[in-house]
Amino acid sequence: MGKNLVDRRRFIGLAAGSAGAALLFGQGRAFGAPGGTPGPPGGGGGGGGGTSTRNPLKLAPEVSPTTALTAAPTDFDLGGGKIGHGLGYNSSIPGPTFRARTDDPVSVLLTNGLDDHTTIHWHGMIVPEEADGHPKDAVLPGGTYLYQYRLVQRATMNWYHPHPHGMTGQQVVQGLAGLFIINDAEEGALGLPSGPYEIPLVIRDADLDSAGNLTYTDKRAGFLGKVPLLNGTLDAKLGVDRALYRFRILNGSSARIYRLTVSDGRPFTLIGNDGGLLPAPVGLAEIEIAPAERIDLLLNLRDIGTENLMLRDLNSGWDLLELVPTGASGGNGVQPTNLPLIEPLGSPVVTRDFSFDGMTRINGQTYDMNRISFQVPKGQTELWRFTTGGNAPHPVHIHGAYFQVQRRIGGRARVFPWEAGWKDTILLQDGETVEVLIRFDHYAGIYLMHCHQLGHEDGGMMLNFAVVDSPVPTALNAGGSGIFCDLT
Ligand code: C2O
Ligand code: CU
Ligand code: CU
Repeated sequence: MGKNLVDRRRFIGLAAGSAGAALLFGQGRAFGAPGGTPGPPGGGGGGGGGTSTRNPLKLAPEVSPTTALTAAPTDFDLGGGKIGHGLGYNSSIPGPTFRARTDDPVSVLLTNGLDDHTTIHWHGMIVPEEADGHPKDAVLPGGTYLYQYRLVQRATMNWYHPHPHGMTGQQVVQGLAGLFIINDAEEGALGLPSGPYEIPLVIRDADLDSAGNLTYTDKRAGFLGKVPLLNGTLDAKLGVDRALYRFRILNGSSARIYRLTVSDGRPFTLIGNDGGLLPAPVGLAEIEIAPAERIDLLLNLRDIGTENLMLRDLNSGWDLLELVPTGASGGNGVQPTNLPLIEPLGSPVVTRDFSFDGMTRINGQTYDMNRISFQVPKGQTELWRFTTGGNAPHPVHIHGAYFQVQRRIGGRARVFPWEAGWKDTILLQDGETVEVLIRFDHYAGIYLMHCHQLGHEDGGMMLNFAVVDSPVPTALNAGGSGIFCDLT
């Protein structure tokens, strides 16, 4: 099935060399050609009823979970033939989109073609320690690393990005990030929009210098770019049929938070987030998405006329993606009224408190690769409480397990619909405390907790914890084991 999907969407193999970037996107499921050549259904970026001078939204090539990745400097198409320069996986910015099914084996050989060490972290994927891309498992320039694991989780849209010690922001902002979509039978049974009606969308901000280089400024307070890039496209547009669309959105920004809306105020139906489908669909006219968070939206465009619509960010006022009617009707995607149940995690047996302090510390300490801050018994439900005295936003992220948000105290003082179900990243604003339930069911090993504002993460707002096979006496529950090499 995963193979079929890959075939149908035209498997694009490895392209070596930077000149492949524009071509890769040209051959992929790109929407329309520059100049507005009519495409397949949903594909007429500039054709059909409406017109737009914006650039057709690029879609990264889809690949199987055994595709090798090379991280290296590359040229890429910013849209409309404008060439940018950044760091890409397989000459693609964003990187290729992996698509696979629950239980599939993943085997990805990374070749590091960068001048610095790097790793790949599979954000939102439940993987063994050796495959988690921890900074201790750094891949040196010219080196390789084999990431191997099985997909033990339900249908989700996750992403992959570098996680090297102190350099995550620089590498991600220069372009290294891609999506990983997992499908399963439960999701498949819903008949959600698919093919050209399922649009994976990486929204991020960027700075481009006059030569088109993606540039990074290492600011503790957070890198905020001057322009939005949608799937690496400047000023993006998408030709849309009269159809139900599924938008699968990642905020791939370093620090920027978006509040998404459609220009005519029509509601989205939110059906999923970081950890897959929500327990129930919910209609919303605005949705907030912090760095590293994902949302899964249905947008009913069956009634659109000839007027273009705009996907907009209310925080920055940016026009993100213009929706240009093609005039065609299509798709047979279903808008579900019920979604699969999510069983609540039971009562916690342990409570742990984490304070996100300043711009570089958790519980008063900056990151030390050699320190394991605490141990968590596998299979034990715990309540973790995140709080901050300031310097938010802090999008708090946990590796190794999803969590269920219980409540938010202070600040916005509520749990939002996009925070239901399973989450791996939760936004803490100033004055807020958020409580989550978490249980590590799969692997023992060393995992990370950190702020996903990449300036904070690189500055040290991160810690190691160990998931252990059986409960340990609390006397042992502190201190480092000194098993890591220190890279600094
Ligand atoms: Cu997306 Cu530890 O990060
Ligand atoms: Cu992660
Ligand atoms: Cu932070």
